[in-house]
Amino acid sequence: MKRILLLAGLLLAACAPKSDMDKYIDSLMDRMTLEQKLGQLNLHAVNGLVTGAKLSDDDANVKALQAGQLGGVFGSGDLAYLRQMQDIAVSSGAGIPLITGMDVIHGFQTIYPIPLALSTSWDMDLIESVARMAAKEASASGINWVYSPMVDICRDARWGRIAEGGGEDPYLGGEIAKAYVRGYQGTDGVYDDHDVMVCVKHYALYGAAEAGRDYNTVFLNRQEALNGYMRPYQQAAYAGADSYMSSFNEFEGIPASMNNYLMNELLRDTWGFKGFIVSDYTAVSEEINHGIGDLQEVSARSLKAGLDMDMMADGFVGTLEQSLKEGKVSMADIDRACRRILEAKYKLGLFDDPYKYLDPSRAAAEIYTTENKADARKTAQECQVLLKNNGVLPLSKNARIAVVGPLAKDAHSMAGAWATSSHNGECVTLYDGIAEVANVTYAQGSRLFKDETLDRIVRNGGDYSAPQERLVAEAVAKARVADIVIACVGETNNMSGEAASRTDVTLPDAQKELLKALKATGKPVVMVLVTGRPLALVDEDASMDAILNVWAPGTEGGHAVADILFGDVNPSAKLTTSFPRSVGQLPLYYNHKNTGRPHGEFDPFKKFVSAYLDEINGPLYPFGYGLSYTTHEYGDVSLSAAEMPQNGTVTASVTVTNTGDRDGDEIVQLYIHDIYATSTRPVKELKGFKKVHIAAGESVQVDFPITTEELSYYNHDLEWVCEPGDFDIYIGPDCQRGGSARLTVR
Ligand code: BGC
Repeated sequence: MKRILLLAGLLLAACAPKSDMDKYIDSLMDRMTLEQKLGQLNLHAVNGLVTGAKLSDDDANVKALQAGQLGGVFGSGDLAYLRQMQDIAVSSGAGIPLITGMDVIHGFQTIYPIPLALSTSWDMDLIESVARMAAKEASASGINWVYSPMVDICRDARWGRIAEGGGEDPYLGGEIAKAYVRGYQGTDGVYDDHDVMVCVKHYALYGAAEAGRDYNTVFLNRQEALNGYMRPYQQAAYAGADSYMSSFNEFEGIPASMNNYLMNELLRDTWGFKGFIVSDYTAVSEEINHGIGDLQEVSARSLKAGLDMDMMADGFVGTLEQSLKEGKVSMADIDRACRRILEAKYKLGLFDDPYKYLDPSRAAAEIYTTENKADARKTAQECQVLLKNNGVLPLSKNARIAVVGPLAKDAHSMAGAWATSSHNGECVTLYDGIAEVANVTYAQGSRLFKDETLDRIVRNGGDYSAPQERLVAEAVAKARVADIVIACVGETNNMSGEAASRTDVTLPDAQKELLKALKATGKPVVMVLVTGRPLALVDEDASMDAILNVWAPGTEGGHAVADILFGDVNPSAKLTTSFPRSVGQLPLYYNHKNTGRPHGEFDPFKKFVSAYLDEINGPLYPFGYGLSYTTHEYGDVSLSAAEMPQNGTVTASVTVTNTGDRDGDEIVQLYIHDIYATSTRPVKELKGFKKVHIAAGESVQVDFPITTEELSYYNHDLEWVCEPGDFDIYIGPDCQRGGSARLTVR
């Protein structure tokens, strides 16, 4: 029956009238030589961007382009240069315009907070508008294709690339993925010259690298992958994402870039994705290192498995002709990939106007403008998580403040990982932002690390010739004559992002020493934490008076941080990753399973249960957690009905009251627990959230509709099912607190 339906479908498709795009591409491909087709499958970096082996210099790229051997270039936002490259592309070979890519990850020239920080806003309109602004700037710089969103779920703070994603939760990650796609590509299904094509990455499961070590092997079964990690990739496809980037890692023993299940079966056949897939940087030739074969073998297998474009390995352009001769790939395989890339160019409107994104008059009016920077500042205000406050915050602008710490004057660390702006060094520093509004003194206070080699690898300047003791002593002297100390500590931009994994996720030793000395002065110490990953802050939580986690807040970082420190803005962000107590707990995530011998998150050690001798199980700060300058109280959770039929809807409600004396935003979270199922289920799963503004003293009722969709999961047979039975429905301010009610699905 299935076969008959499939045949009928194919027949229908064959008889369906051809779209203008199909007709255009048919006639174009009729004129193309094999060499020209293979050229479309090839992608090179230009202008010196390198994250792996450097393949060719810029002269060689020009030659390759003239020979029709390049379908796209990436890594440059230099409009004049890209115009020249486009000139060559349209005047040589089949005259096909280039697609021009770039790692636009959190803003372009105007830098926004890193994606992990953006996720802590839990504000999908905000994320969409950040992508919109980035699209505007990138498209005014000659770029029509962005290597974003990065939607890899990550449960392990050791992995440096946790900074680039939306945290540990697949539901939230799915909402975030959709918001990025809407923002970059626009919502009307047509690319205008301010819309750019997304490239959803890294497909798939790159964030599950074992032990948090970059590029490492992933060990997951399909069911856990689908339930815990895949939703963001899936939602991006449903939202209309037009391209994906295959990842470096393997899945089920097959590298992702040659994984037929991931690319053809799941992404295309199951989720209906119609666009093209590009490999990550040299991912095709890295399949040789994975032990799969030589370049010809891995290139052929990658193409057959659904990969369309090869980034930087020259495997497709170099070996597919031979593979065709040997019957390892067919002409249909090559045509399919070529067509998908031509379709992307057609959708972008490049055949109508190859210079659509190369308008030199836009740059001055649209890039790095005062308006864009103001937007970045407003965004950064929504992305700082207040982790601790014993009442010392907000600060008075009249206080005498000692601003100390190696991150205080580090503009590059405000930009964070994967910021490709030429303005990284101009970001407003923490010191500058604070000094603009208050009376301050300054001392660097410490190195980053005591170890000189490590210190040198991660720092961005500063006085590192001075001995650590002297730096600390200077800071202590400044602290003694101040009313309050702001310690700017944490990780530089070089400590997260690609190839920046750590085995120790505490604050670097030299900075810990500084904090200890500052504490000993008896002055109140506010720790401003710059970081690209969750850190284990047990000591700091015990000793600091306040901790404000500002991540890497972008171009206007210092201003936005001062806005929070001095109370002009009430913080509202909440964590989207668990903050561990120790590296030994990793991977650590709130939506874990119960085990047969469960142990309370905060209970002391007990024999013969799932626990550690030397540490409790729970995080230091849980998923969903974050403080504000006001307080919120949650009422009881109520359900519109205690029972629900399979196709029904039940509304879960709670009343939230702002019990403090400031207006504020609260992120209200809905979780479920499937109590009995045919497969084991997590102890809690996020299924909804709302960010609500509540005036001081006021209450609002927050409602969440629950349908079988929220209660479904992939069972052992990989079917998306809602199994009848009991569910606990929780609503609270984070994954650990709040009330619950019982729902029975019939
Ligand atoms: C990274 C990708 C990036 C690509 C191109 C790779 O090393 O993994 O995230 O898009 O380089 O710069």
